[in-house]
Amino acid sequence: MAFGGAHKWLLLCLCILISLKADGYFVDITYVESAVAKGAVCLDGSPPAYHFSPGFGSGVNNWLGGGWCNNVTTCLARKNTRLGSSKAMVKQLAFSGIFSNKQAMNPDFYDWNKVKVRYCDGSSFTGDVERVDPATNLHFRGARVFQAVMEDLLAKGMSHAENALLSGCSAGGLSSILHCDNFRSLLPSANVKCLADAGYFINAITDAIDLNVRKDITGTEHIREFYNDVVTTHSSAKNLPSSCTSRLSPGMCLFPQYVAQGIRTPLFILNAAYDSWQIKNILAPGVADPHGTWHDCKLDIKKCSSGQIDVMQDFRQQFLSALALLGSNPSRGLFINSCYAHCQSEMQETWLRADSPKLDGTPIAKAVGDWFYGRSGFQKIDCEYPCDSTCHNRIFE
Ligand SMILES: *[C@@H]1O[C@H](CO)[C@@H](O)[C@H](O)[C@H]1NC(C)=O
Repeated sequence: MAFGGAHKWLLLCLCILISLKADGYFVDITYVESAVAKGAVCLDGSPPAYHFSPGFGSGVNNWLGGGWCNNVTTCLARKNTRLGSSKAMVKQLAFSGIFSNKQAMNPDFYDWNKVKVRYCDGSSFTGDVERVDPATNLHFRGARVFQAVMEDLLAKGMSHAENALLSGCSAGGLSSILHCDNFRSLLPSANVKCLADAGYFINAITDAIDLNVRKDITGTEHIREFYNDVVTTHSSAKNLPSSCTSRLSPGMCLFPQYVAQGIRTPLFILNAAYDSWQIKNILAPGVADPHGTWHDCKLDIKKCSSGQIDVMQDFRQQFLSALALLGSNPSRGLFINSCYAHCQSEMQETWLRADSPKLDGTPIAKAVGDWFYGRSGFQKIDCEYPCDSTCHNRIFE
């Protein structure tokens, strides 16, 4: 397979798979069989995979996401699913939003070479354990997958890229931060930038969901323990940016708030201040809500009580404080809207449409495109919920 015009590459690794939208087009899977000999494999030992749509110029590389597995139990649970095995992946993915091939829907990236790299290692492409326990046959090789997929794409034409964007949403958004400088070093003469969509997972104080007792609760940091387990299980430390691991324990270096300030490549952070995944899984996880008082609110922000909204405002404050840790950097892009959403770049309805979300009148596609091409910067944080009437708030069934 030869890639079309080599100058523009959009690489998306690690997205959470969201229901396919009618306005997208479907792209076939490519298995990277040559990666197996390098030990660069999914959890179950199967070859990694990506979906490639040839373009006419640049490229977007996108890393698909899907959470993490933090120990043998949770990794075994996903081993034979699409998140652990290329044998279980659907053979076609829809490309839309930043992956749309229509100029009107995606004016700055429509004609790029586009790659979605499937996520099957459970570590945001950071793991590398040589030994495979015969009892579980689990392979912890995410970092090798990243390397092998890159080698494959470079050989197929990406090495000629003039423009390249590494993007990703959710665990993939986190990957695009963690691997941003690595990616740029592969393309030393190209204009390379990174986009983290819904990848700004914060080290939030959780269990603070009952307003009545909230003031008495110090809160615990479940996600911190979880990330510690992830980096231990996958031996991720050596593959995380040393600008962070030289200062902090490796588990902390999965948090963008500690790791992103050391990233030298221009980075765009696109995130809802009320990230629906973080609210559901970090702020108010089921274990912290035994009576289910958050059930309806987590499914639909419009069903939250005023007390629950107060807790969400508190989460937003934590989010903004975590963001402030990055300090100012003119090369950075920032689009923090006040929606209840998770991943906004890969669906047409949130990327660019007449009614898509806007911040100060600017849709996400324009903010990212202007920033990528250096036409203008974009660093904006919206006023607090419910001030933004342009949101497409997630409603979970
Ligand atoms: C694995 O992690 C899950 C999720 O954090 C936890 O519930 C479970 O107890 C852990 N299992 C082991 C064996 O540590």
